[in-house]
Amino acid sequence: MKDNYIGVIDSGMGGLTVVNILRKKYPQENILFFGDTANVPYGDKSPEEIKHLSGRIINFLNKYPLQAIIIACNTIDSNAGKYLKEISNIPIYNIIKPTCIKACQLTKNKRIGIMATTAAVKSNAYKKELLNLDNSLHIFQKDCPKLVPLIESGHFDKDDPLIYEAVKNYLDDLLTKNIDTLILGCTHYPLLTAIFEELAANINIVSSSNEAVQYYSKNNKDNHNKQGEELYWVSANSDMFQDNAQKFLQKPIKVKEITIE
Ligand code: DGL
Repeated sequence: MKDNYIGVIDSGMGGLTVVNILRKKYPQENILFFGDTANVPYGDKSPEEIKHLSGRIINFLNKYPLQAIIIACNTIDSNAGKYLKEISNIPIYNIIKPTCIKACQLTKNKRIGIMATTAAVKSNAYKKELLNLDNSLHIFQKDCPKLVPLIESGHFDKDDPLIYEAVKNYLDDLLTKNIDTLILGCTHYPLLTAIFEELAANINIVSSSNEAVQYYSKNNKDNHNKQGEELYWVSANSDMFQDNAQKFLQKPIKVKEITIE
């Protein structure tokens, strides 16, 4: 193991959309990805379960040489973000606030749609943060429980009718609200960028994965003395994860399965 990794945590594949952008911005940083695939999806769980599951990831990662942890999961940030900051020895970077700031900058008609997991929608974290930034906004939330399980089982190609129809059904509802800005409030959804670009071609799409990295990069320069190592750790199903991850990242990677308490 090397040193000073940027930790990226999620329940699964969504974290890779953050790793992908992070790697382009930081060619030489060491990155440690952790995906809690034994417990994915987090989006159907209670706030207490999400706190417990994500808390144990932080306690586990606290033992490793990390310079920062990016919460690459809106569901974790919305239900446990504050708690994780309290228990972590390592600086934590959140995802929801920077995403809201970007959406506020882009909207002209002040009508913003959010697609996210059920637990993230129920928490109202996006709604509260957006209204805090601008209380004249109209916010429309849509929870999309089918998307994460489909993506985790390998359905993320634009030509895959299962995922295409699922996205279309969720999105159609939001598009009737005359939104001009759509927040992809789950890091799994940027795996479906090609579908969103087709179905929501005329509106601003704000990717929470992108905004999480932009926020991190405002505060941190690339460390040019590093080796650019990438570690991929998951808590279950490493073979399937590796296949899907390689398909998305378009490069070979080695995924290690590890058990955490
Ligand atoms: N990728 C996670 C997010 O951004 C959620 C996935 C899940 O439901 O486990 O919310």
